[in-house]
Amino acid sequence: MCGIVGYTGNNKCINLLYDGLEKLEYRGYDSAGISFIEPSGIKTIKTQGKLSNLKPLLEKTPSGSSCGIGHTRWATHGKPSVENAHPHTSGKITLVHNGIIENYSELKNQLAGMSRTLSSETDTEIIAHFIDINLEKGKTPLDAIHDTLNLIRGTWALAILIDGYPDQIWCAKNQSPLIIGAGEDEYFIASDIPAIMPNTRNVIFMEDGDIAHIAPTEISFYDIHLKTVRRVSQTIQWNGVTAEKGGYRHFMLKEIFEQPRCILDTVSSRISASGNITPENFTLDEKIKKIHIIACGTSYYSGLVGKYMIEELARIPVEVEFSSEFRYRNPIIDSSTLILSISQSGETADTLAAVKEAKKLGAQTLSISNVINSQIPRISDYTLYTHAGPEIGVASTKAFSSQLAALFMIGVYAADIRGTITAERKNQLLYDLKNIPAKMHHILEQSSQIKVIARRYIHSHGFLYIARGMNYPIALEGALKLKEISYIHAEGYPAGEMKHGPIALIDEELPVVSIVTRNNYYNKTMNNLEEVRARGGKIIAIATTGDMETADISTDLFMVPETDPLLEPLLTVIPVQLLAYFISDFKGTDVDQPRNLAKSVTVE
Ligand code: AGP
Repeated sequence: MCGIVGYTGNNKCINLLYDGLEKLEYRGYDSAGISFIEPSGIKTIKTQGKLSNLKPLLEKTPSGSSCGIGHTRWATHGKPSVENAHPHTSGKITLVHNGIIENYSELKNQLAGMSRTLSSETDTEIIAHFIDINLEKGKTPLDAIHDTLNLIRGTWALAILIDGYPDQIWCAKNQSPLIIGAGEDEYFIASDIPAIMPNTRNVIFMEDGDIAHIAPTEISFYDIHLKTVRRVSQTIQWNGVTAEKGGYRHFMLKEIFEQPRCILDTVSSRISASGNITPENFTLDEKIKKIHIIACGTSYYSGLVGKYMIEELARIPVEVEFSSEFRYRNPIIDSSTLILSISQSGETADTLAAVKEAKKLGAQTLSISNVINSQIPRISDYTLYTHAGPEIGVASTKAFSSQLAALFMIGVYAADIRGTITAERKNQLLYDLKNIPAKMHHILEQSSQIKVIARRYIHSHGFLYIARGMNYPIALEGALKLKEISYIHAEGYPAGEMKHGPIALIDEELPVVSIVTRNNYYNKTMNNLEEVRARGGKIIAIATTGDMETADISTDLFMVPETDPLLEPLLTVIPVQLLAYFISDFKGTDVDQPRNLAKSVTVE
C-alpha cells in the first residue's frame, strides 16, 4: 500500500505535494519522491527512508512549478532504496503507482527483448517504459496509456506526467484507490481523503478502469473502452482524524476491513497463469526433513495454523515454538531443518535472536514478514513477504490473515513439488484460495451482527474460546485479541480439553466463544457445546452458513461461508477480530494503542 499525490493549478506545487504526502505517510514510509514540471522538463527528487528525508532535498532545489506528482512507498517488489523509490521515469514518461503488477516478470522479459534497460527492481517502472514505447510509436497520450493498461494484469492507481505537456496529469485506477479534489482552477490527486481535505472537500472518486486527463481548468474521464464518462464530485464532511482512518473509527477496524485486499495482494502475484505457486526465490530443498516455525504472539498463532496446513498438504513434520523459548533451550536443529520465522514487523527481538541461533546451528531459514528489508528478512536465506501494507493498529489483524495466506501457499507449493497432492487437488486449493477475498467481503458486510452480539457481553469478566483442529489457533488468537485491546481476561483451549479442567469454569457468567464449522471436527465440537449448555454456559458460536443445528444450541450465532477446511481460519478469524474490537470500543479502551503494548517488541 503506498500513498500517491498530484497537483495542477495556479499555485506552486512542491509544498502542496509534500504536505499531501505527510497526510498519507501511514500508507507507507520506506522511501518517497516528488516530480514536477519545469520549462526545462520534468525534475525528480527522491529519497530512501522517511518522508522527512525529502524535505531538505526539496529546499535545496526551490521551484515555481505548478504541476507535479509525489509518492510515499510501502515496498512490495524491490527493496526500499532511492533507485526503487517512485516516481519512475522512462523517456518522456514519469509516473507514480500504488498496486501490484502480477505479470511484471513476463513484461520485464518483453522489455529486455526491446533492449530497454531498467534502472530499478520495481514492477512500476515497467509501466513507464510501455507508455513511452507507445508514445514513440506516435500514439496520443490517452491511447499510449490505455494500450499499456491493456497489457498489464494486477492493481493500479497511477499519476502520470508527460514531458512536453506542461500543467497536465493523467491518472488511471484499477482496484487501488485514487481520488481527485476539485478546487478553483486547480485539481488535487491523492490515494486517500486526508491529503485532499486541507485544500478542498469536493472530491471525485475514480472508478475501476477509469483514465482521467487533468489540466488546471478542465478534467475528462474515460472508461475502460476510452468512452468519455462523467464522474460526479461529492462533498466530504469528515474531520481530519476520521479522514486519516479512511472514515473508520480506528486503524484496527480499517485494517480488519482491508483484509480482502491484503489477501489478494499477497496471493495474486504468486500464482502463475499456469496455476503454479511461485514463492519468489524460495525453493524447498529435498534434504529438508522438518520445518520448525518460530514466532511470537499473533504470529505464533498463525504458525500453529501453518502446521495444520503444511503437515496436511506436504506431509512434512512441523514444529511450532515461541521464539523466546526456542532461543534459550539448545534446540536440536541441523541442515535438514527449515526454520520458518513469522514476524509482521520483521524486527521482534526474540524472533530475530532465534533466527540467528538457528543459522548458527546450520538450519536453512525462510521468513514471512510484512516489512520489506526489515532485519529478520535481511538475515534469512529466503523471505515470502505479505503485502498487507503498513499495519498501524497495535493489535495485528490484516497481517495475521495475510500470514495464513502465505503459509497456505507454502503448503501447496511444498505438496506440489513433493507430489503429496494431485494436480486436481492443487487446482481446487488454489481456486478456494482465490475465492477467500470475496468470502471475507461477505463476512465483513455482516459485521453489524457481531456489533450487536458484542454489546451483550461488555460487562463479562472473562471469556473462554474453544475450537478444534485448524480453528484451535483461532480460538487462541481470538482470546489474545480480546485480552490485548479490551483488558478482559480470555483463554483459548482445544475444545477436546474441556473435560480436563476448563469445564469447571462454566457458568452463566462465562461466555464461551466456539468455532464450530462444518468440518471433520464438527460433531466432537458440538458435543463439547452440549456440555457447556448443560451447565448453563452462554455460547457464542461461529458456524458454517446454513447450519441450523448450531443455531439451536447457541445463545448467539455468527455464520461464515463454507471453504476448504484448511482455509477456514482466514474466515473464522474475522468474527473474533470484530468481537474483540466492538467489545473494546464499547468499553472505550484505546483500541489502536492499548496500554502496556507496542507495535513491535524490539526488546527482550
Ligand atoms: C498481536 O496482536 C500483538 N500485537 C503481538 O502479539 C504481535 O503479534 C507480536 O509482538 C509479534 O510481532 P511480529 O509479528 O511483528 O513479530
